[in-house]
Amino acid sequence: MTIRASTLFLLFLVSCSAAPAESLRASVTVRTDQPGSVIDPGIYGQFAEHLGRGIYEGVWVGENSPIPNTRGLRNDVLAALKELGVPVLRWPGGCFADEYHWRDGIGPRDQRPTRINTTWGGVVDDNSFGTHEFMDFAELIGAEVYVNGNVGTGSTREMAEWVEYMTADNNSTLAQLRRANGRDKPWRVHYFAVGNETWGCGGNMRPEFYADLYRQYATFIKTPRDNKPQRIASGANGSNTEWTDVLMREAGRHMDAISVHYYTLPRGAWKEKGAATRFPESEWISTFRRTLRMDEILTNHSTIMDRYDPQRRVALLVDEWGTWYDVEPGTNEGFLYQQNSLRDALVAAVNFNIFHRHAARVRMTNIAQMVNVLQAIILTDGPRMLKTPTYHAFALYRPFRGATHVPVEISTAEYRLDAESIPAVHATAARDKAGALHIALTNLDPHRRAAVELHLPGQTGKTLQGQILTAATTDAINTFEAPDTVRPAPFKAIKVKGELQVELPARSLLVLSQR
Ligand code: AHR
Repeated sequence: MTIRASTLFLLFLVSCSAAPAESLRASVTVRTDQPGSVIDPGIYGQFAEHLGRGIYEGVWVGENSPIPNTRGLRNDVLAALKELGVPVLRWPGGCFADEYHWRDGIGPRDQRPTRINTTWGGVVDDNSFGTHEFMDFAELIGAEVYVNGNVGTGSTREMAEWVEYMTADNNSTLAQLRRANGRDKPWRVHYFAVGNETWGCGGNMRPEFYADLYRQYATFIKTPRDNKPQRIASGANGSNTEWTDVLMREAGRHMDAISVHYYTLPRGAWKEKGAATRFPESEWISTFRRTLRMDEILTNHSTIMDRYDPQRRVALLVDEWGTWYDVEPGTNEGFLYQQNSLRDALVAAVNFNIFHRHAARVRMTNIAQMVNVLQAIILTDGPRMLKTPTYHAFALYRPFRGATHVPVEISTAEYRLDAESIPAVHATAARDKAGALHIALTNLDPHRRAAVELHLPGQTGKTLQGQILTAATTDAINTFEAPDTVRPAPFKAIKVKGELQVELPARSLLVLSQR
């Protein structure tokens, strides 16, 4: 049976390609007989740092702002995040975390000190967004809380007191201070990290030195019994498995998770990374080639972890990932503001697929960063807000949260450009708690449609329906004037009768669900 793209997409294909290229071929077999691990909803987590317009303007506008807000938190952003659902939110950094002193951000706002954000643009942070504002924000959007502690310029005492301030349920002086500042009940702190990128901006440490520091700091994360955060060790930079090896060997038994950071840079270099839009096709393919490395990176770290922790008690968290381009022309270099196009949505999809494959070990990831910074799901401009293509990729993958991963076998034509080549079709599948199957298919070829044979053993008679995300160009974006240029469209419902053939438009993401 052949399934045609919706009328909209036929029109789109006809109008976009004067001489439509021949379809590429792929086949995807969903191994419903080999269920894998549960996909932790935390895999769809977010990260918000005091960086550029990520917090200030992006989330926090203050109670007196003309921008409609709830206790200083902008309503449009709150609504978009609530609609999407944010399982977990990491704060306050990033590099900022190792220069953040929590006492600066409590008490009457007009009496809080101002500090220089030395890492990000040298701007002054008035600390109007602190612990209470963050916790209020997390509660309003229903996110679990991931607080990143300061090792670089902090102390065990400062860290221990922050934890006590947030979680004490007795009459200690710090609990009373919290109450005096407006919060009676302790907050639930789900995750707490001991430093960030301690191999770099967090202190330029050697793994042996940090392993000892981690053990020392983690000892003083003390909370009431029913409010124990998962203790997270600051993990490796990309492929540096030596870091994971030393940390697991020396401190593995003191941690619940270790992180890893991996960013996708189109040109693989920090100096000239490549532009977010108007990029050449060579940077489309190189972006995907580099993002596909996430799989190998997770495999390599997991292999090391398996040696020390075969039961997989310790989780591997990708608490920073995403695309990192040159900043938009005319914007502050230190603010990391970049556009977000269809390419970013497909990068997100490929990473989700990879995270699903590693779900046994990878139980949380946090895209960098939620609003106005790097691969953001939301952009703002004063009072205006838009959802980026990456937001829509997160929304399309909602059914995968908490579902059980079902492995897929993929045989696909390659997409080639000059000497580079990547598999054109990428896919994932999962079965949710109600028993429904969900399948995501991505066509990374920017020119050719993909004729995908879909094998769904044992699913005959079921109806699949879905949504597709694509656009006329690889760098299509949403703008404040045209915020819905890139957004999902319904994909025709189909009935499974043995083998299916799905026509995927070029440069597209399709998520199909059983109804
Ligand atoms: O996300 C931006 C920065 O990237 C973070 O602050 C840091 O941890 C990483 O290097």
